[in-house]
Amino acid sequence: YTITVDRSSTGAAIPRSMYGVFFEDINYAADGGLYAELVRNRSFEFNGTDAAGWNGLTGWAATGSAVVTNDDQRLNERNRNYLKVTGAASLTNSGYNTGLAVRRSDRYDFSVWARSDAPTTVEVTLHTADGTALAAPVRVAVTGDTWKKYTGTLRATATSDVARLSVKTAGSATTRLDEVSLFPRDTYKGRANGLRKDLAEKVADLKPGFVRFPGGCLVNTGSMYAYDAANNYPRARSYQWKDTVGPVETRATNKNFWGYNQTYGLGYHEYFQFSEDIGAMPLPVVPALVTGCGQNRATVDEALLQRHIQDALDLIEYANGPVTSTWGKVRAAAGHPKPFNLTTIAVGNEENLPEEYWANFLRFESAIKAKYPSITVVSNSGPDDQGGTFENLWAKNRAHGSDMVDEHYYNSPAWFLQNNRRYDAYDRGGPKVFLGEYASLDNKLYNSLAEAAYMTGLERNADVVKMASYAPLLANIDNVQWKPDMIWFDNDESWGSTSYQVQKLFMNNVGDRVLPSTATGDVLQPKPITGAIGLSTWRTAATYDDVKVTRPDGTVLYSDDFSDGNADGWTSVTNRGNWAVTDGAYTQTTTDTEDTMVKAATINETDYDYTLKATKTA
Ligand code: AHR
Repeated sequence: YTITVDRSSTGAAIPRSMYGVFFEDINYAADGGLYAELVRNRSFEFNGTDAAGWNGLTGWAATGSAVVTNDDQRLNERNRNYLKVTGAASLTNSGYNTGLAVRRSDRYDFSVWARSDAPTTVEVTLHTADGTALAAPVRVAVTGDTWKKYTGTLRATATSDVARLSVKTAGSATTRLDEVSLFPRDTYKGRANGLRKDLAEKVADLKPGFVRFPGGCLVNTGSMYAYDAANNYPRARSYQWKDTVGPVETRATNKNFWGYNQTYGLGYHEYFQFSEDIGAMPLPVVPALVTGCGQNRATVDEALLQRHIQDALDLIEYANGPVTSTWGKVRAAAGHPKPFNLTTIAVGNEENLPEEYWANFLRFESAIKAKYPSITVVSNSGPDDQGGTFENLWAKNRAHGSDMVDEHYYNSPAWFLQNNRRYDAYDRGGPKVFLGEYASLDNKLYNSLAEAAYMTGLERNADVVKMASYAPLLANIDNVQWKPDMIWFDNDESWGSTSYQVQKLFMNNVGDRVLPSTATGDVLQPKPITGAIGLSTWRTAATYDDVKVTRPDGTVLYSDDFSDGNADGWTSVTNRGNWAVTDGAYTQTTTDTEDTMVKAATINETDYDYTLKATKTA
């Protein structure tokens, strides 16, 4: 066939920042992932709120008298647990996946905060699970009963991905230990408290134009209260950036929305630093005080809303303010006196409560614009779109003239192929689009080809679609809450999916401008919808009946009301939820999980203007 390129006219200019990455701490993407710390539960803060059965010694094996303690002898108010060791004891940490990963001849920096009521020596060893030494031991002399940081360096004598770190005390002293840490010296760009090199390099190799962080559902869910005594040090609170900056031993840990503990060792400073290191624009997402992702609650606490709006303003000051400003000073103390050049900030994620969100968004936006008129404020389109149009919030955004709107969708490859023209019809004078999350629902070659085809439609509409990021970015193979994912890893290896290769191809070859083109001959035409149709479901128990695929004129192309009491071929692809057909409806029988269910279907429709709708009855 023939492609004719019209060189006499020009299409949309493609911004350098068109394609970026979306980092969320899902699938253990941070601790045990991009964050290079090798010790799991280094500050003994894990507890049963994080995950069933977890406690202060999760990740550790202890012999002797070693008790996780929270009393007024603690390291500081935000790092409240420590380990109180009396006499001879041994503590062994088994890291993530199969263990700590070490490479022969590489150096590893050990540190611990400690105090002791009598001079004592702490011995630090690196060894395999069966006791084979992997480094010469390091001995740390602890003197004085006030908290001090002690350090040492271990050099690995062999390569292993099943290493253990042991800390041993002897004698009869009472020794208090906290923030036991082991970092490879060889982090990305050699930064202290840095990033795992192979993973950071894989992200850098993409040459992303921006980094959206820190989530997703992670941002907007949980309690909106700060970690403080006034609120009884809440766990399971939303991601609040002030929790995540400053010296790591003063950062409070939190329950991660995805069902584990997050140390915040990888926090806002590190996100900004990483964005700068890879030449990408930082794009933080702040909570809008309306919890989405199945929680669907809005705050009515005006003081809380005010504080969060102030937090957003303070964040801009942290990123851009002079070193004499309150938050610019904190940035400088972290080693970055120069500004990070923040230009864009997003408020909220997948907002299910349009009225409540909109009221809050306007408050955030007007406060930000009043103080920082040149900052782009990204609004939201609503929850994960299953092929619909997000009409409710889009209408508000259009009428208001928002700068940019964040859309998300996870769909079948057929959907991506059939919706290549999605943005052709978008209002050219309306808000710009930030496609903050999208993926075709598997990690097969066909999925990535569908994504590639779809991205040509994004580029053709680059006057409207200004940024796009595949999601999620990272997944630890042993701790998967969501798939597909772009980059997979265990404790010492990482590999890109075919979607990674597609993203890399597009990001490394961002054009300047689209030239209009036409194709004639045996070109691919939209195919009937065959294969999977899918529904994303949320963490609350949900019931679906009356699933329909319809044309815009209402003609029903496919319908399933489960009325016969059979599952009718629907399956739970991501295997995170349990489903049953009860009372003629398809019901999620577990709570606090997220799932996508699909069904193979053939729909005789060559027109790609269809929508899939599920009536949620509970
Ligand atoms: O990317 C995974 C999740 O998908 C994000 O947290 C959320 O925004 C979306 O539903």
